[in-house]
Amino acid sequence: MGEPVIRFEKVSKAYGSQPVLKEFSLDISQGEFLTIIGRSGCGKTTALKLVNGLISPDSGRVLVKGEDVAQADPVRLRRQIGYAIQNVGLFPHMTVEKNIAYVPTISGTAGWGKAERRKRAQELLTLVGLPADLGGRFPRELSGGQRQRVGIARALAAAPDILLMDEPFGAVDAITREQLQDEILRIHRERGLTVLFVTHDIEEAMKLGTRTLVMEEGVAQQCDAPSRVLSAPATEFVEKLVCRRREPEVRV
Ligand SMILES: Nc1ncnc2c1ncn2[C@@H]1O[C@H](COP(=O)(O)OP(=O)(O)OP(=O)(O)O)[C@@H](O)[C@H]1O
Ligand SMILES: [Mg+2]
Repeated sequence: MGEPVIRFEKVSKAYGSQPVLKEFSLDISQGEFLTIIGRSGCGKTTALKLVNGLISPDSGRVLVKGEDVAQADPVRLRRQIGYAIQNVGLFPHMTVEKNIAYVPTISGTAGWGKAERRKRAQELLTLVGLPADLGGRFPRELSGGQRQRVGIARALAAAPDILLMDEPFGAVDAITREQLQDEILRIHRERGLTVLFVTHDIEEAMKLGTRTLVMEEGVAQQCDAPSRVLSAPATEFVEKLVCRRREPEVRV
């Protein structure tokens, strides 16, 4: 196996006196689909934001393709890393098309003119299973599930090879959620992306992940193939999480 695409090297992060990550280390290889699960406030979003440099570690390092995120040019870094944020986060005053084109436009390197922007937005809308003519609408004119798909299209717009997804399928019904899960699996397969995917849904973590990271109190409780997490839970916390899986709609 080559060098990891993403490496957390003894990363600690605190907000004030509250530690969030404690000497957290993890290597993620090219093409992995890492699902991350853990209780609210355990540091999942913090871990994602360290990868694209939205926040910096207090100690330790985060490396993306061997480069220390702290030293990297943020614009170049974020062009390689798509980010679908918690609660979608579309810009309400921009059309769907402009939302999708946002990262390539601000990073200025894609040379997207208006016609190109329309064409690429249409391609991306199709990719996430939306009608290609949705681009002229505003986010308020879409359903919650459609907004989430646009959020994913936006994260894919700069053709990243790393995708950070923070509870991207939160506010949708079970059927739409299943469709979105199948679509992201297809996109992952077709594009060979490396995906970090935060969820509160243990079923979702098991279905999507090539590996699942279980976090609690700022440390990794287990990071293993989903089948191993189920068959050989490493800690009491993981065991409880897995046991509760037998109940319907388990979320932590
Ligand atoms: N900017 C900030 N300032 C102070 N505290 C913060 C800040 N951002 C996050 N925190 C705290 O750090 C902890 C971890 O936050 P984080 O957003 O990583 O949690 P999370 O695991 O993503 O939770 P959730 O599942 O609710 O999204 C929480 O206790 C949160 O209150
Ligand atoms: Mg979060």
